[in-house]
Amino acid sequence: MPDQPLPPPKGVFVTGTDTNVGKTVVTAALGLALQQTGGTVGIMKPVETGLAPDEPTSDGQRLKTLFALYRNVDVRGLYSFTSPVAPLEAARTSQQLIDVEAILNACRTFAVHHDYMLVEGVGGILVPLTQTQDVRDLIALLGLPCLIVSRTGLGSINQTRLTLMGLRQAGVHILGILLNHSDTAREEQQTSTVKLIRELSDVPVLGPLPFEPRLRANTEVRPYRWEDGIMTLATHSTIREVARMVRESD
Ligand SMILES: Nc1ncnc2c1ncn2[C@@H]1O[C@H](COP(=O)(O)OP(=O)(O)OP(=O)(O)O)[C@@H](O)[C@H]1O
Ligand SMILES: [Mg+2]
Repeated sequence: MPDQPLPPPKGVFVTGTDTNVGKTVVTAALGLALQQTGGTVGIMKPVETGLAPDEPTSDGQRLKTLFALYRNVDVRGLYSFTSPVAPLEAARTSQQLIDVEAILNACRTFAVHHDYMLVEGVGGILVPLTQTQDVRDLIALLGLPCLIVSRTGLGSINQTRLTLMGLRQAGVHILGILLNHSDTAREEQQTSTVKLIRELSDVPVLGPLPFEPRLRANTEVRPYRWEDGIMTLATHSTIREVARMVRESD
């Protein structure tokens, strides 16, 4: 009898309305929450720009440091460019091309070995990876459901609705919108942004994930480390809810 194909892993592609909205923070906290269930977790950051891969504050290195002691979590990166510009231009600057097929193959191979798969995007969904392919194409080709990380401040309603529209156009399954209180916008703006995104979205809206000052402390001294802030957020009801949705997804 021929081998049965392996079931696709449960997982999520963590995208955002923009760069710097909290994709790495959410990916890290979600990875912690999922590994607590005893399953294995593969975390992929396929493209990163702006920092050398071994720079302690690069996304890849932050995730590797956080999960170094967790034997059921693997973190992998693929393309890393020091130039702090969009991936297509960063690759050109270093005379390289991003191969989306290579990213897909790396993710598929990685996924075979894990119960849960988390992929962090780069910037927002229309960020170009090659001359003809952007992050949205990668999401659609991967076939994972998508989580949209959005800010709670002014401007986020427009960015969130554009992102929803763009993903829908490509037929991507949207797991939900995660509102992240990552900046210090005025309270009335935060409240009304959250209210209107909830009111106008027809996908699950989770959060807001609270502002966590330790993520900003930028120190290696406990308990003010980035890792300690992530551990706190991993126990928040917003992250627990997303972890439940990933576990129960088909
Ligand atoms: N809930 C929060 N409370 C406080 N700070 C936060 C929160 N979420 C994110 N941050 C901080 O905001 C900054 C951006 O977050 P993060 O690196 O996760 O964004 P990103 O979307 O992954 O960015 P990139 O596009 O560079 O990958 C970081 O300094 C992070 O620690
Ligand atoms: Mg990031």
